[in-house]
Amino acid sequence: MAKPAVERTFVMVKPDGVQRGLIGEIIKRLEQRGLQIIALKMVKPSVEHISNHYPTDEVWIKRLGDKGFNVFNELGIDLKEAMGTADNLEAGKKVRKWLIDYMTEAPVVAMVVEGVHARDMVRKIVGSTLPNKAEIGTLRGDFSVDSPAAANLEKRAIKNLAHASETKEEAEKEICHWFSQEEIHQWDRPDHKAMF
Ligand code: TYD
Repeated sequence: MAKPAVERTFVMVKPDGVQRGLIGEIIKRLEQRGLQIIALKMVKPSVEHISNHYPTDEVWIKRLGDKGFNVFNELGIDLKEAMGTADNLEAGKKVRKWLIDYMTEAPVVAMVVEGVHARDMVRKIVGSTLPNKAEIGTLRGDFSVDSPAAANLEKRAIKNLAHASETKEEAEKEICHWFSQEEIHQWDRPDHKAMF
């Protein structure tokens, strides 16, 4: 029987992580923390598959627009000049489109990760969405340097190495979107007996 607090989450090495040879480093950081990879594959996703991976609701799209806007506001850069709009929904739609272009550029590595509080643990290991704000010690803080100011002005997505599900609902949806039941394996890590 699964132990209490053991959760599953979805993690993906994005095209920049694959292209930079960081698949091993990313998996290493998950495994060394005690997390367990229970499904893994390399995929060159279609536009449709990636579009269905990311939420389509306006709240999520507006949040995407706002995250970039905050950085432009901090830097005193005019939103309309930078994004062509000061409307967070319009800006979010643009970012979503750039994101789909980027995520279909090269293969990605998709995985299901299991462990104690796996969702929060993986998000902590990956670090803040915006690499320029990510703490040292996180994957993004140690290996990436991008920011909305650099990316949005060039009309492209931020290169931030990896994706990790944020909520329980998101994890469930994403795991089903990327993996069939047969591709997910139940196996024991004997060292877990010494960990928890
Ligand atoms: P989000 O779900 O907010 O972040 P996270 O990946 O940490 O859960 O955003 C989804 C992705 O959108 C994010 O990983 C990078 C990309 N993005 C941009 O390309 N430009 C932007 O201005 C923002 C805010 C995000």
